[in-house]
Amino acid sequence: MDIWHVRGGRKLKGACRVQGSKNASLPILAAMAVSPLRAELSNVPRLRDVDAALRILRHLGCRTEQEGDRVYIDSAGMTRGDIPHELMEEMRSSVIFMGALLARCGEARMSLPGGCRLGKRPIDLHLAALRQLGAEIREEEGEIVCRGGKLRGTRIELPFPSVGATENVMLAACAAEGETELCGAAREPEITALQQLLCAMGARIRGAGSGRIVIGGMVPRPALCARIPFDRIAASTLACAAAATGGSIELLDVDAQQFSTVLYFLNRAGCDIITQNSRVCLSAPPRLCGVGDLRTAPFPGFPTDAQPVLMAALLRSRGRTRITETIFENRFRQAPELRRLGADVRVSGRTAEIRGVERLQGAALTAGDLRGGAAMILGGLAAEGETLIRDEGHVLRGYEALDERLRALGADIQTEICNEEKSDGDDKSDAPAGEQAQ
Ligand code: EPU
Repeated sequence: MDIWHVRGGRKLKGACRVQGSKNASLPILAAMAVSPLRAELSNVPRLRDVDAALRILRHLGCRTEQEGDRVYIDSAGMTRGDIPHELMEEMRSSVIFMGALLARCGEARMSLPGGCRLGKRPIDLHLAALRQLGAEIREEEGEIVCRGGKLRGTRIELPFPSVGATENVMLAACAAEGETELCGAAREPEITALQQLLCAMGARIRGAGSGRIVIGGMVPRPALCARIPFDRIAASTLACAAAATGGSIELLDVDAQQFSTVLYFLNRAGCDIITQNSRVCLSAPPRLCGVGDLRTAPFPGFPTDAQPVLMAALLRSRGRTRITETIFENRFRQAPELRRLGADVRVSGRTAEIRGVERLQGAALTAGDLRGGAAMILGGLAAEGETLIRDEGHVLRGYEALDERLRALGADIQTEICNEEKSDGDDKSDAPAGEQAQ
C-alpha cells in the first residue's frame, strides 16, 4: 500500500525532464526475447511494470542487469517458452510476450492476462491475428497454448487498431516466412518505437505510424544499444498538473506532436502553450475554462490514458466539459473519488460531465487504477488542505518518481510506502482469468 499525502493550493512552476515511456518499454523488453541478443537500453523508467517484464525475461532464461536508467539484457541463453501465472497476472501487457515467444521458440504457454479494472480487456484480436500467421492456439482452463510450427506471412486486417495486438503481430511476424501485411494497425508512437527497435535487431519492417505495417522477416543481429523515448502520458500528466494549479511548466526533451491533442485541449481551456524544438512551455490562468465536448480515440485522437488527468485539471474550471470515453468501458473510476473533493462530475455510461466549481477541499481518496490515481493526485494539488490517497501500488506501476518531480515544481507531496506488496495494477484481473477469456 502506498499513501500519497498532498497539500494543495500551490502553483506548480519550473522546468522538468519527462521519464522514459512505460508503454514503449514493455513491448521493447518483450522484443528482447525474439532473437539471441545482447542489448543495452537507456532511459528505461524505474517502474513496477518494467520490473515485472524483467522478471519474465529472467524466468525465460535471459540475463538482465539494471543500473540507473540503463538495462542490460543478454537473451542468448533463453531456455523456455512458458510464463507462469504469477508473472502473467502482474500486468496485462505480459501478453505481448506471446508474439515474441512464438517467434523465438515456435511455441508459447501462458495463462490468460485476464480482464481488468478498466472493464473487459479480451485478447481475441491478438489470438485471431496470430492464428492467421499460422499459430495453432488452444485455450485450456485459463491457459493459452500456442504452437507456431512454421509461421507464414499473410495479410491481416485488424477490425480495431489494438495497440497490443499490433505489437504481438509485429513480434511474431519477424520469424514468419514471407511478408506480413498488417492493415488497420495501431498508429501510436509506441508502435513506431517498437519498429525502430526491431529494425535495429535486424528486422525488415516499415509503415509504423500509418495504419499499414509490412513485416518482411528478420536477419538477427547480435547486439544493439537503444534509447527509450519520452513518455507522452507522463508529459500530459505534468502539463495537466501545472494547469490544475494555475501554474507554469517547461517540459524538456519531449516531442509535442506525440501529445498534441492534450496540448490542444489545454490551450482551449485557456493555457498559453509554446512549443520549441524539444521543449513545451505551458502557462495556465488561475482558473481554466471548460472545453466543451471531448472524445477519447486511438492515436492520433485524444489518448484514453490522459483522460483522467485532464478531467482532474478541469475540476475548478469555469464552464462545462463533456468527456466521452470510447476505448475502455470503465475508465471513469476516478470520478466518484474526485467528487469527495467537492468536484461536480457526473457519469452516465460512457460520458462524464464536469461542471467546474470554484473551490475543492482535500479529502481521503482511494486509487483504483494507474491513471485514475494520478488524477486524484492532481485533484489534491488543486484542492485546499490535505488530500490523502491510498493506493495499492497503481501509480508507481507507471510513474517514475512522480512525487519528486512534483516537489521539484513546488508541490507539497509526500509518499509513504507502507510495504512492498506485489504489484496489483489496473491491468490485473479482478476475476479468475478464465472468466475473461473471449
Ligand atoms: N481489445 C479487444 N480485443 C483485443 C484487444 C483489445 O476487444 O484483443 C479492446 C480492449 O478491450 C480495449 C481496446 O480494445 O477496450 C483498446 O485496447 P488495446 O489493445 O489498444 O490496448 P492495450 O494494448 O491493452 C495499450 C496501453 C494502455 C492504453 C491502450 C490504449 C500498454 C502496455 N498499454 O493497452 O495503457 O490505454 O493501449 O491506448 O501499452 C496505461 O498506460 O495506463 C494503459 C492502460
